Amino acid sequence: MKKIRIGSIGLGRLGYEHAVNIAARVPGAELKALCDVDKEKLRNVAGQLGVEQTYEDYEQMCKDPELDAICIVSPSDLHTKQIRTALDNGKHVFCEKPLDTMVEKCREAEQIVAAHPEQVFMLGFMRRYDYSYRKAKEKIDRGDIGRIILIRAYTQDPLATIESTLKFAPHSGGQFLDMCVHDIDLCSWFTGGQKPKELWAVGGCFAYPQYRELNDGDNVSCLIQYEDETMAFLFAGRAAAHGCNVETEIIGTKGTLRIGSVGTDSMLEVLSENGVCRECYPDFMYRWHDAYIAEMEEFVNCIREGRKPGVTVYDGTLASETAYRCKESFETGKKLSFRE
Ligand code: NAI
Repeated sequence: MKKIRIGSIGLGRLGYEHAVNIAARVPGAELKALCDVDKEKLRNVAGQLGVEQTYEDYEQMCKDPELDAICIVSPSDLHTKQIRTALDNGKHVFCEKPLDTMVEKCREAEQIVAAHPEQVFMLGFMRRYDYSYRKAKEKIDRGDIGRIILIRAYTQDPLATIESTLKFAPHSGGQFLDMCVHDIDLCSWFTGGQKPKELWAVGGCFAYPQYRELNDGDNVSCLIQYEDETMAFLFAGRAAAHGCNVETEIIGTKGTLRIGSVGTDSMLEVLSENGVCRECYPDFMYRWHDAYIAEMEEFVNCIREGRKPGVTVYDGTLASETAYRCKESFETGKKLSFRE
């Protein structure tokens, strides 16, 4: 079967990872073109991965008749317009989360995707493709833990990568849209698409006052109650001393599931004068390495098999809308209903 020829936009922290995966680790895919506004980065990555076709302008790349699909890994506030250009040019689209940073733009993206029903559109909520999270979902759907009462989720980036995190912050959409959005999506996935009823978000600048200038916090949390009364407590932090720590607990009426309750990258234990230590994932790239490959495989397989992925544009809007409402609650200090 013919390989799916992909052009990838954005070669930053995650864009580089996706480009390497498409080039070397995803069966059935071919990395055919690359695009970035940073000329030097573009030349270096293209040289390293042996990609001949390069573009500084994504609109030009989307017109390339040699491409079947576009992978969007650019800053979050550019997603909708790049989705439009790619779909209007007949390409299948994989787009990184969040769908966009503004709810109106997410709704616009929904309309664009609906107008191209023959093309595959997939959003990068890669946790849904992580082995442990997939197992948890299977158990929930089978009724193993009964009805979900509470979901507790922590997502912490490591202190070691704080410089790139700070650089990324201005166009990230803020902690809720950038980080909590993953946990928010998991909550709706686990609960079968429940919508929030009320939420309250708080946070602060505990080590990095720079975030205050962006109307953000370096550590934030929120409490959400869903329409069916399920509760969720989410925490997102930018600078955990021990590394990239992601943990999730799902408490049900008949049992509890925990994923990564001790954030550790292997079975290795180091016994020394410091005691007994297990090392944490150094960054999100290590933690989600397999999931990034698995989600791209699913995108390519959907195109080849003419089917649609489980994660949709509507999941993207719901997650961004919930995250945006959390941001409003954080900024106003008020408990808010999801929809006024
Ligand atoms: P980054 O800031 O490291 O890289 C962005 C890249 O896009 C840069 O190389 C920049 O030169 C390029 N760029 C900017 N404007 C462009 C344009 N108009 N055309 C082409 N290229 C352009 O950002 P990072 O961390 O790679 O994030 C990119 C996206 O991936 C964001 O939407 C982010 O939310 C998402 N992301 C998702 C993660 C996940 O776990 N699913 C993890 C990290 C990021």
